[in-house]
Amino acid sequence: MKILLTGGAGFIGSHFAERLLEQGHEVVSIDNLNPFYDPAIKEQNLREIQKKGGRRFIDIRGDIRDRKFVEEVFEAHRPEEVVHLAAMAGVRPSIAEPLLYQEVNIQGTMNLLEAMRSRNVRKMIFASSSSVYGNNRKVPFSEDDNVDNPISPYAATKKAGELICYTYHHLFDFSMVALRFFTVYGPRQRPEMAIHKFTRLIDEGKPVPMFGDGTSKRDYTYIADIVDGMMRTLDIEEGYHLYNLGESHTTSLRELITLIEKALGKQAQIQQLPQQPGDVDITYADISRAKRELGYDPHTSMEEGIRRFVAWYRESQERLRS
Ligand SMILES: NC(=O)c1ccc[n+]([C@@H]2O[C@H](COP(=O)([O-])OP(=O)(O)OC[C@H]3O[C@@H](n4cnc5c(N)ncnc54)[C@H](O)[C@@H]3O)[C@@H](O)[C@H]2O)c1
Repeated sequence: MKILLTGGAGFIGSHFAERLLEQGHEVVSIDNLNPFYDPAIKEQNLREIQKKGGRRFIDIRGDIRDRKFVEEVFEAHRPEEVVHLAAMAGVRPSIAEPLLYQEVNIQGTMNLLEAMRSRNVRKMIFASSSSVYGNNRKVPFSEDDNVDNPISPYAATKKAGELICYTYHHLFDFSMVALRFFTVYGPRQRPEMAIHKFTRLIDEGKPVPMFGDGTSKRDYTYIADIVDGMMRTLDIEEGYHLYNLGESHTTSLRELITLIEKALGKQAQIQQLPQQPGDVDITYADISRAKRELGYDPHTSMEEGIRRFVAWYRESQERLRS
């Protein structure tokens, strides 16, 4: 199958592209290599994908906010499905720049949906987020819970993305899959995300900022498990579907730091700071729907996942030094 993948140079996109190529698909990636984090990391991701995919991987640089550009890509490459991961990610920066998040995450998504409509491409897998649950009191979070109280602009744009996907399903019979990812980690994780940032700071002997008292909890999901869940949605041919993709296991911030300390063999200097606006107290996925309907079966423990992350971190540090 020929798949248009947005955000192919990013963390999740690069892993997903590699898996698609391994399974014999063709991948057309759109990414603008924005400077949210060092674009050299994204260039490296693209080189690694290209090595695996050869001519079945097409790397297009451009911005999904540019409607003409998006239309031209559809015209030139005629994809059969769209996997839409490109976005401004991250809760805290969205509070500083809500308009940018709106432009990329909502307008950009609509540009893709319109290009799909005019070229008769009728399937999209959309990257949503556990952040749509806001400070949901009921745990674990289920797809049937009310998500009308997002507590950051980022979360609101992801919820808006789900809504507009539903509308295109309803009006134009698109088949839509919205996946709510729960904090994804593993090799190539974005450098500003907690696991990557803490690993770097502990390794360099620098203070680790711990927001809150360390009891806030996250459902961390290993990248290979996420990619596995995503692959299981490729063949869905009709309807509107919403799935949580998490591990359904929570780890506190304190526990997380301890796991990283163990994997690195170094001790953290913790600097306790007040909880940040927009941050939620807990994320915890009810994954029974994805298990039942997709056969999704995440199995990477935090110990194993952190060990693999730290091994990758060390290798990438070596590469930088050589
Ligand atoms: N990583 C997580 O824990 C997590 C959790 C929930 C949801 N998500 C969602 O999953 C998706 C992928 O996240 P990620 O962690 O791989 O992030 P990432 O930042 O590594 O990847 C996103 C990619 O999109 C590209 N991009 C951004 N704006 C663009 C634009 N205007 N035009 C073209 N390309 C653009 C970026 O250059 C980047 O390569 C995002 O939609 C994110 O919101 C991620």
